[in-house]
Amino acid sequence: MTKKIEKIAVLTSGGDAPGMNPCIRAVVRTALAQGIQVAGIQGGYEGLIQGNFEMMGARDVGGILQRGGTILCTARSKEFRERQGQMKAIRQLNNESIDGLVVIGGDGSINGAQKLIDQGVNVIAIPASIDNDIFGTDMCIGVDTALNTIVDAIDKLRDTASSHNRAFLVETMGRLSGYLAIHAGIVVGAEMVLIPEIPFTVDEIASVVDHAYLRGKNHAIIVAAEGVKPSVNELAAMIEERKLGFHLRVSILGHIQRGGRPTAFDRMLASRMGYKAVEFITSEQQGVMTGLVGSIIAPVPISDVVSRKKSVNMDYIEMARQLAK
Ligand code: ADP
Ligand code: F6P
Repeated sequence: MTKKIEKIAVLTSGGDAPGMNPCIRAVVRTALAQGIQVAGIQGGYEGLIQGNFEMMGARDVGGILQRGGTILCTARSKEFRERQGQMKAIRQLNNESIDGLVVIGGDGSINGAQKLIDQGVNVIAIPASIDNDIFGTDMCIGVDTALNTIVDAIDKLRDTASSHNRAFLVETMGRLSGYLAIHAGIVVGAEMVLIPEIPFTVDEIASVVDHAYLRGKNHAIIVAAEGVKPSVNELAAMIEERKLGFHLRVSILGHIQRGGRPTAFDRMLASRMGYKAVEFITSEQQGVMTGLVGSIIAPVPISDVVSRKKSVNMDYIEMARQLAK
């Protein structure tokens, strides 16, 4: 028999992602509807170590569905990476009589959650990261909004690229994952996509840019994920040296991709995952992540999530190549 859940806590951790707020709202309101008290922890694992708990009511999460960022704030905590930090965190949870913890965050945050689970803490993880690099879920909260931001930015860059007959090398975020770049590349009609998972050469890039010029195109867009090596600035210098038909400009989209109003898709995903997290935390389903598997939100063991890597869809790589012809 599992212990009756009377009080849970929720935190957001790692890089913020649009949709974290609707997710917090769903966790708080679902728990309250079931007679469970909820404490919000300000500042991720760092706040947990410091004991930054505050009880949350239904009105505390009003008016946040449409807001990017996270009202609970987030952090990257060095101290929590160490066993001593994790022990302090567990002591704080015990002091506050917390029966279960909901961690909303990315890959690193879920690795952190596993450390608490190893010590017997009842933790449910909710995947939220624009990188979409988490095994066990088709989508993370924030990805759809970030992709829409990227598409909007590249559509604008194409206007200026065409007006000046230029090539653009556009860098998306994604840490070591090419997900955002490949998806953006397909939906903006990029001439080429560079991702860390697939090797490429400067010759190949130069040839794509040259062909676009010689075929009479008035621009060329190359989308590169931030994890590529050489970096976009190094690549740009090497490409410019070759004196191609198009001059090249670099645009690094940066943190703008993490902000903004969550799309309807992200609000729905966040609401569904927050709702399910409370169901999982009160059931036998402990130590799981809310994964979007096909069209359902399924309990995915966190031990699997942290021990496996999400791989890039090779079909999309080939599709991007063929559609760019
Ligand atoms: P994200 O969750 O967006 O991937 P990070 O990788 O920065 O962001 O992770 C967020 C926080 O999770 C880190 O600052 C750290 O406190 C914690 N964390 C990450 N990896 C581990 C780990 N292997 N063990 C313990 N804690 C970790
Ligand atoms: O994990 C989300 C992310 O935006 C990555 O795409 C990027 O590499 C990283 O976080 C940037 O981190 P910071 O906000 O610390 O600059």
